[in-house]
This record gives sequence, C-alpha cells and structure tokens, in this order.
Amino acid sequence: MNAEPIRELAPDPVTSLYVHVPFCAQKCGYCAFYSEASTGEMMSRYVTALIREMEMVASRLRPQTVFFGGGTPTLLTLRHWEQIFAAMDRLGLLGAREWTVECNPATLSLDKARLLRAGGVNRVSMGVQSFNAALLDRLGRVHSREMAFKSFDILRQAGFDNLNLDLMFAIPGQTLDVWRETLAEATALGSEHLSSYEVIYEEDTPLYAQLKAGRFAVDEDLACAMYEELVERATEAGFRQYEIANFARGAGRAPNVDRSCQHNVNYWRGGSFYGLGPSATSYVGGARTKHWSNTARYCEEIERGQRAIESSEELSPLARAGETAAFGLRMVEGWPFDQFLQVTGHDLRKEWAADMDQLERQGWGRALPDRFQLTRQGLRFADAAAQLFLR
Ligand SMILES: C[S@@+](CC[C@H](N)C(=O)[O-])C[C@H]1O[C@@H](n2cnc3c(N)ncnc32)[C@H](O)[C@@H]1O
Ligand code: SF4
Repeated sequence: MNAEPIRELAPDPVTSLYVHVPFCAQKCGYCAFYSEASTGEMMSRYVTALIREMEMVASRLRPQTVFFGGGTPTLLTLRHWEQIFAAMDRLGLLGAREWTVECNPATLSLDKARLLRAGGVNRVSMGVQSFNAALLDRLGRVHSREMAFKSFDILRQAGFDNLNLDLMFAIPGQTLDVWRETLAEATALGSEHLSSYEVIYEEDTPLYAQLKAGRFAVDEDLACAMYEELVERATEAGFRQYEIANFARGAGRAPNVDRSCQHNVNYWRGGSFYGLGPSATSYVGGARTKHWSNTARYCEEIERGQRAIESSEELSPLARAGETAAFGLRMVEGWPFDQFLQVTGHDLRKEWAADMDQLERQGWGRALPDRFQLTRQGLRFADAAAQLFLR
C-alpha cells in the first residue's frame, strides 16, 4: 500500500526578536543586567557571532517587533551597525513594524542616530533614570543631565518620532520634591513613552551591598507616594498607563497613534520570541531556553556552530498558562477571559476562581463581566498577586 508521506507541518514563524548587547561604558551601581566594559576586539567578535546566530534562526523568524537591549546597544560603532543591518537585510529580517534600540545618553552622536534611523530602527529607549545631577552621580551613571537633553534633541533631529525615557524612583537620597522635578522635566520633553521602575535591590550589586551594610534604609511609604505621583503626573501630561511601569501616548480608541511598546506587550501576553546574544532568553514552542551570561563563551559556542544555550525548560501547559496569567495581569486592562482561553487553552474562571476571589476580597483585583484586572493597589503589588496564579 502506498502510504501518503507524513508531511511535517512547519510551525508559524516567530514574530518577535530580542538581541542582547552585553557592553556598557561603565557598570551602574544598581544594575544586574549582564553587561561589562569591553575592548573593541571583543565587540567585533560579538558582532560576528551575533550575525552567525541570526543565520541559525532566520528561517524560523519573521520579525514584526525587534528590540536591541542591553547593556548599551548604542555603544556599538557605526561599522558594527552597518554589519548588522547588512546581515539582517540578507537574511530577510528587516521590515519590523516596531524596532527599538536602547540607548545610554553618553553614547549617541548625530551620525549614529541617523544611521540607526536609516537602517530601519524606529523607536529609541533612552536610559535617563533621573534629571538630578547628584542622583545620577549616586547611581554611577556615565552621563550628565545635560547629555540626556542633548541626546533627546539628537534623536529628534535624526527623525525619530517614537522615543521612550526610562526613569527610576525610590533611589536612596531621592526626596519626593526631587522626584517631582524629574517628572516635570521628563514630561516636558514630550517623549511618546515613559517607563519608570522603582529601584530593585539586586544581589551582587554595589547598591545592594550598601543597603545590607546599613548605609541607608528603604522607605516603603515614600516609594508608594512616588508611584502615586508618577501615575498622576504622567496621566496629567497625556500619557495612558497600560502596564504597571509603562505609559504611552495614544489610546485604544485611536490605535494608529498608540505608542505602547508592542514588543513588550507580546511578552506580557505570553507570545513567543527569539532572544539572541549572551544571557538572552527565548520562548519558542512552549520551551524556554537561556543563553550563557558570558560573552567569550557565547562567541566560542557560536563559532563551533551551535547556539550558546545554558539551560532549557519545557513547562506543562497549565504551568505555562499560570505564568501567562501572571505576566498579563501587569497590564492595566487585565486579561479578557476569551483572549486568555484562546492563548493558553485554559479558563481563568475555572482554574483560578478562588485566587481571583481572594484578590477581590483584598481589594487588589476586580472581576468585570468580560475580564479580570488588578486594581491600582493591586498593580502596585503585582508581583505578590502574580504568585497566586503560578502552578
Ligand atoms: C538596559 S537599561 C537601559 C539602557 C542603557 N543601558 C541605560 O541604562 O541607559 C534598562 C533599564 O532598566 C532599568 N533598571 C536597571 N536596573 C534596575 C534596577 N536595579 N532597579 C530598577 N530599574 C532598573 C533602568 O531604568 C534602565 O534604564
Ligand atoms: S543600567 Fe544600563 S548603562 Fe547601567 S549598567 Fe545597566 S545596562 Fe549598563
């Protein structure tokens, strides 16, 4: 009997690409992202390895969103960027509708900004953290407040109409008045997007060591007041809060001007993504893989023709759904029940009914006819709320 050959169904291509650039001019005192100061030689070796890794995954990728994060991607030279653009063109990886590059204000020139824009980058996320000179110093930032203003102008001059500013609050030594001044200066700049995180004390950072040594204390009430101030001032300035720490111009009813970060929305909604570069994580076909956080090792493995994978895990469908629930609840609109069912195959109202009840009783959650969402207070404690959903 002539059996029909079994044809393997090609999975849908992944539409989201993250690239980790593991270099910084100098390490900030609070930061635990994998990055280090480096030589030009290592940067060139990394770019060659990155391009080889792009070649390995290109056939399974059709990027709609691209995000070069770090580290400091703008530390790469013009020549490096030209190599990356040429490779992405050759591999069919250009044409994303949103392409973000993270930038440190000390590492930008007009030439570089123009090159990025011409290469297809259409969104830049600039790490400002604070407009207060003493706090910038305290955080170990390489740039001055003036450089942040100047880089913003350079980006506008180069034609970028979608800019994000990163700010941090509850920095040791930061008063509510100093935070208000930074918020006023940031909103006056007129960026399309604002991200603002409370300082996280990451182990193995100088700031964490100072906290443990009793050099300062954490003031929870002040941090809460700063978060309230952030939400109020950003809203007043015309931003729409769409996630705990993220604010965008444009609204749901006018999607053509919606400036929320589509790349991050894909993470929070449990979408797949490829992550390239040292320390990057990928989530493809329900499996999560993580690369070595070591640039030399990353390059060696890629040079041997394999991706530099340190670990991989495949979660059960229910565990995956629980994680997806937890991530998506970071978004202000919460999880529409239908959408959640469609994405995960599980019904929030069945599997997590008791957990949602508990959050409602605590005043942290709210069940509407079509969705479940966290309240403003719940969003402030979203990490604790999220724990309830993990299976
Ligand atoms: C990779 S950095 C941004 C680009 C560039 N490296 C820079 O710092 O200018 C990503 C952002 O994460 C935030 N961040 C990093 N470490 C943090 C921490 N320990 N607590 C809170 N926010 C942090 C900062 O706002 C930072 O701008
Ligand atoms: S915050 Fe940005 S510039 Fe500072 S060390 Fe981390 S990645 Fe580098």
